[in-house]
Amino acid sequence: MKNKIYYGDNLDILRNYIETESIDLCYIDPPFNSKRNYNQIYNNVGDEDKASAKAFVDTWTWDDMAIQGLNEILGGTNKNLTAQCADLINGLTSVLGKGSLLAYLVSMTLRIAEIYRVLKPTGSFYLHCDSTAGHYLKLVLDSLFCKRGGVFRNEIVWCYRKWSVTQNQFVSNHDNIFFYTKSDNNIFNTQYLPLSEGTLKRWKGKKQQAVFDSNGKRLASNLAEDSKGVPMFDWWEMSIINPAAKERLGYETQKPEKLLERIINASSNEGDLILDAYCGCGTTVAVAQKLNRKWIGIDITYRSISLILKRLQDNFGYDFTQAIIDKETQQLSSAPVEINGVPKDFASAKALAERIDDRTRKEFEKWIILTYSKNRAIVNETKGGDKGIDGIAYMPDRDDKGEIINKKALFSVKSSKTLTPSMINELNGVVEREGAACGIFLCLYPAPNLVKASKAFGNYHNNLINKDYPKIQVVCVDDIFQGAVMELPNVVHVVKKAEQHGGEQKSLLD
Ligand SMILES: C[S@@+](CC[C@H](N)C(=O)[O-])C[C@H]1O[C@@H](n2cnc3c(N)ncnc32)[C@H](O)[C@@H]1O
Repeated sequence: MKNKIYYGDNLDILRNYIETESIDLCYIDPPFNSKRNYNQIYNNVGDEDKASAKAFVDTWTWDDMAIQGLNEILGGTNKNLTAQCADLINGLTSVLGKGSLLAYLVSMTLRIAEIYRVLKPTGSFYLHCDSTAGHYLKLVLDSLFCKRGGVFRNEIVWCYRKWSVTQNQFVSNHDNIFFYTKSDNNIFNTQYLPLSEGTLKRWKGKKQQAVFDSNGKRLASNLAEDSKGVPMFDWWEMSIINPAAKERLGYETQKPEKLLERIINASSNEGDLILDAYCGCGTTVAVAQKLNRKWIGIDITYRSISLILKRLQDNFGYDFTQAIIDKETQQLSSAPVEINGVPKDFASAKALAERIDDRTRKEFEKWIILTYSKNRAIVNETKGGDKGIDGIAYMPDRDDKGEIINKKALFSVKSSKTLTPSMINELNGVVEREGAACGIFLCLYPAPNLVKASKAFGNYHNNLINKDYPKIQVVCVDDIFQGAVMELPNVVHVVKKAEQHGGEQKSLLD
């Protein structure tokens, strides 16, 4: 089986593409209902443009999707749900009322029920959350797992240090990870916390025979003799990815690779299949790949998908220079990864442009800008675009005084069928107003009249490499499927290169 990336809503993908009892380990780190936007943090370019680049809106509302989900849970026809789960959600509806939190829990319940279905009988599930809704999620998990042979194993507390100021309360510096297994016959490889040299020396000096505590458990001093350290306990001290960390990609909710290494090593073996249904910038899939597991990653935003492709390219050398699927095989043949849900022809690009989902606004814009720019542009996600600008790329140039400066290329995206030359006049006006170098007009439908009209705007001359580029370019999706990619000089990488690096849990028994 090829490793797989799916671009889309995980409920739909789980239901339609992931086989029952096929997954050995599922880790998810869903949005926490934190009412925050996940912003994208970029390399040190274009400071003024960062603020409007949102990756995901972590806000639930009681809408048609929530009503439909609640009806499904209470209706009793979904075989992947349990009667206890229906009772629980019914009770929570009375307690919480039909608002944001219930909408979130309904959405999570439907997805956890599918995850339960796809887990193998020996499979494990880790749900990463925080204190916002963790206590409700545990009830949902109990109702879906424990009522049919599943086992609650641990509530892992991931502790980290993050300096912040709070009023009237303590600073919250931990996340919770609920660990469940589908049966009591789960794969588990004990992980060890290495002992410091000092502790080892002290304990080795003690007598060799087994020493037991009053509950019959072997004492750590004996276990230390096994030299691996002490069996890992359920609170993990591990640093978060700080802004300067090498592995940081700029995805706000990115988790450290060390965290996933511990989970994957504990609950799977080489060759096993790992699923992350909310995979963000691909921490789980990158670690699974590194540890020789097979994997499936799902995410609903194209920004995540593009970051995952970049991460796989940086870490493992996969060639994703063309994020386009081969028309014949329907797959990216150059890399051992199957990419699903990314537009591969006009019809699927049109379907993306017509997708209505407020959680993931501007997906068509993200896809076309990031694909055409080879992930080098910042997508502007302000509603309606910002002063006619949907995206920006930066390229080095030399100004009149000979100084090196970053010049902007501005993107404007249109998915409408009616395209008039006035639109590129407008883009040219924005380029002039912003003092940018050039404008790129990306459209769904072919626009030969605009291509023709664009020639009238002449060229932009890059002094650094002494070469001309069209001042206004017009590119439609069919051009992109035929291999058109942005050709501008030395465009700056706005997303950092992925590197392997992670925080350690030091011995706490010193
Ligand atoms: C907290 S982030 C995960 C971060 C990830 N663990 C990492 O290390 O990069 C949650 C992700 O879930 C995605 N997401 C939210 N709702 C989704 C859905 N219904 N289907 C698929 N992905 C979803 C968001 O786009 C976001 O990337």
